[in-house]
Amino acid sequence: MGVPSFLWWSVPPLLCLLLNLAELCNGGITSSFVRKVEKTIDMPLHSDVFRAPPHYNAPQQVHITQGDHVGKAVIVSWVTMNGPGSDTVVYWSENSKQKNKAKGMVTTYKFHNYTSGYIHHCTIMNLKFNTKYYYEVGIGRTARTFWFITPPQVGPDVPYTFGLMGDLGQSYDSNTTLTHYELNPTKGKAVLFVGDLSYADNYDYNNVRWDTWGRFVERIAAYQPWIWTAGNHEIDFAPELGETQPFKPYTHRYPVPYKASKSSSPLWYSIKRASAYIIVLSSYSAYGKYTPQNTWLEEELPKVNRRETPWLIVLMHSPWYNSYNYHFMEGETMRVMYEPWFVKYKVDVVFAGHVHAYERSERVSNIAYNIINGNCHPVSDQSAPVYITIGDGGNLEGLTASMTEPQPKYSAFREASFGHAIFDIKNRTHAYYSWHRNQDGYAVQADSLWFYNRFWHPVDDSTSAR
Ligand SMILES: [Fe+2]
Repeated sequence: MGVPSFLWWSVPPLLCLLLNLAELCNGGITSSFVRKVEKTIDMPLHSDVFRAPPHYNAPQQVHITQGDHVGKAVIVSWVTMNGPGSDTVVYWSENSKQKNKAKGMVTTYKFHNYTSGYIHHCTIMNLKFNTKYYYEVGIGRTARTFWFITPPQVGPDVPYTFGLMGDLGQSYDSNTTLTHYELNPTKGKAVLFVGDLSYADNYDYNNVRWDTWGRFVERIAAYQPWIWTAGNHEIDFAPELGETQPFKPYTHRYPVPYKASKSSSPLWYSIKRASAYIIVLSSYSAYGKYTPQNTWLEEELPKVNRRETPWLIVLMHSPWYNSYNYHFMEGETMRVMYEPWFVKYKVDVVFAGHVHAYERSERVSNIAYNIINGNCHPVSDQSAPVYITIGDGGNLEGLTASMTEPQPKYSAFREASFGHAIFDIKNRTHAYYSWHRNQDGYAVQADSLWFYNRFWHPVDDSTSAR
């Protein structure tokens, strides 16, 4: 029996539909790795990683960040619990016996019925590039000594290795993430942190959990700078407790050199480090037209000289390209505002957190839409950044495993596991990127690729192109 002629007519549209479906389903890789299912719980207050250093009023929660625009200054921060103590940092370079002093400032804050310890910040300036410095905080029996290495002078072919973490919290999994970062054979020299630090707000804003977090990360944050980004867990807006000043604990505890980039707020700023230009944005501050953040970014992007700093990296908390159901499209309004600029200025990579899982995008943009034309789909775009969600630090809220299906085309790789990443810049054209899940050995790369610089070598570097 032959096929009725009217059915033949339906074949082209059917084929079309099938091809379209195939295209829709033609996403990247959803990793088949199944994480051992165990509860993500916070470490109790008496855990060894939260232990305060011995001696009355000894400096604790020591951490450093870059202190100027180019890496010749370091901000040293610490807390003394019982009294203001010394506000001075003594420091000396590895090859010199001459000890120098820098004087800092001390601040405190109250949050509901909590009163902070004495929070010290001290900026050490005019350091030499590429030099190991020791520094000492506290006096007498409470003195504690740490060290850091300043970055090389800013330049286009300066290799540099960044670590990446986000949404860390203070669970047993968070501790595993820190250990894996420490023991990764590729050694990160500075951490790009994409927001959500302590999750103290999950304890009815008990700021004691800000203190435990500070002691927890000291083992890394006292020795290499963490470049901070504010997340939603830094907002700490609690009018029911009389707390209406957003970001109060965060901004008191984690200073950044925002004035060096002419920013009017610590919540958005930029730094140069080695061959990278890093722009930090705030997902939870106004970013619409005429707002301070918008104006700052519009003036900031043209300042980036790719002949000096080839690698243009943006950090933010809420991702623009996220194919998990958790926080789906929360970054959409900021994407609409800023994505055309990211394409115009050829941002190499955008790191975000917020979603407690891992995802890497293709180079895509979705900027053609103009309310009339209907062009509202992400398309392949070699001038666009790769978007990486690295909110997999391991906090108490647990993993997000629920993904949108089918995997959209823009999503190159996604997996619901905790971990960290490394962005290892080799020269002006090449950077090697790797993601490391906590279940693997320290050297294992669960996802990796070579980044080709968008200014110097803008050829297709996607994994699907190889
Ligand atoms: Fe978040």
